[in-house]
Amino acid sequence: MKKLAILTSGGDAPGMNACVRACVRYAIAKDIDVYGIERGYAGLIANKINFMSTRSVSDIVHRGGTILKTARCPEFKSVEFQEQAAETLQAYGIDSLIVIGGDGSFRGAKDLSDNCGINVVGIPGTIDNDLAYTDYTIGFDTAVNTVLNAINNLRDTMGSHERVSLLEVMGRKCGDIALYASLAGGAEFCLTPEVPFDIKEISKTLVKSRKRGKTSNMIVFAEGAGDREAICKELESLTGLSVKTTTLGYVQRGGAPTMADRVLAARMAVKAVDLMIEGKTNRAVGIKDNHIFDMDISEALAVKHNFNDELYNVMNILAR
Ligand code: ADP
Ligand code: F6P
Repeated sequence: MKKLAILTSGGDAPGMNACVRACVRYAIAKDIDVYGIERGYAGLIANKINFMSTRSVSDIVHRGGTILKTARCPEFKSVEFQEQAAETLQAYGIDSLIVIGGDGSFRGAKDLSDNCGINVVGIPGTIDNDLAYTDYTIGFDTAVNTVLNAINNLRDTMGSHERVSLLEVMGRKCGDIALYASLAGGAEFCLTPEVPFDIKEISKTLVKSRKRGKTSNMIVFAEGAGDREAICKELESLTGLSVKTTTLGYVQRGGAPTMADRVLAARMAVKAVDLMIEGKTNRAVGIKDNHIFDMDISEALAVKHNFNDELYNVMNILAR
């Protein structure tokens, strides 16, 4: 394997650039030519491919987003477009591809390997932390820290006005951003898709907290947990308190990656390039108990989401 391509796909995540940089520089150090694909699978189909040097990745280790750009490319689910993508790679004499993205991107990589014989390695890059085979995905730590900054700011204003804050965070069907931000930010309630919740009970607890002298409250709400506006209205009518919603949105997807995400990105990149050198394909790189490992990409995708109930319980105990 002398030529390798890299793409970023799905939602961007802080640390993707640090990962691209590490892949490029480590591969070059191992005498491999590296190519960057623009806009994920869309760029692979459209032949948007550029030779990369150590200088192509200068001054990006600290930047959020992805210099390679990213895209959602629904047509890539069809074999016809996968074959077109494989032809792009073959035209450059490239037989190996590193894909940095979430579960959808991993499915695309797997198809490219199964249907077109391209060697693929997936590196988990998404703020959602929704790839269950790995403890952490690149971008998650930074996103949670961004949410924590928002919680700090909201505490100031909610406290001044004696309000209840209902903060919506991202994560699709995964409540990890909400859970870790709730625990680390000292929220009183964490509403996630994984754990059923009762608005009447929450309302009672909020009212009791005010009787105990609390002057404001923080509820973190994962976007997949239900109808935020309906919940807000119900909380207001049951408690008589002023409930204000904030949707953090894309703010939590950008920004300079934290140390944890940059180091994770570098460690995973090295593993991915090493796997390519060893001729291993259809692999997913992950981290378990601070150990970088790899496993079959289909098996990785099949691992069932395992919400951290223990952490959720700790969060609830500390909140009361
Ligand atoms: P993420 O990778 O963050 O989960 P998406 O689910 O949007 O983001 O997936 C990113 C891209 O991966 C999609 O736009 C599509 O090009 C490709 N993809 C997703 N699912 C599949 C699939 N089942 N088969 C082939 N390609 C897929
Ligand atoms: O997967 C990352 C993510 O930011 C999710 O948390 C969110 O639901 C989704 O992407 C938003 O996607 P889009 O960029 O298409 O609006």
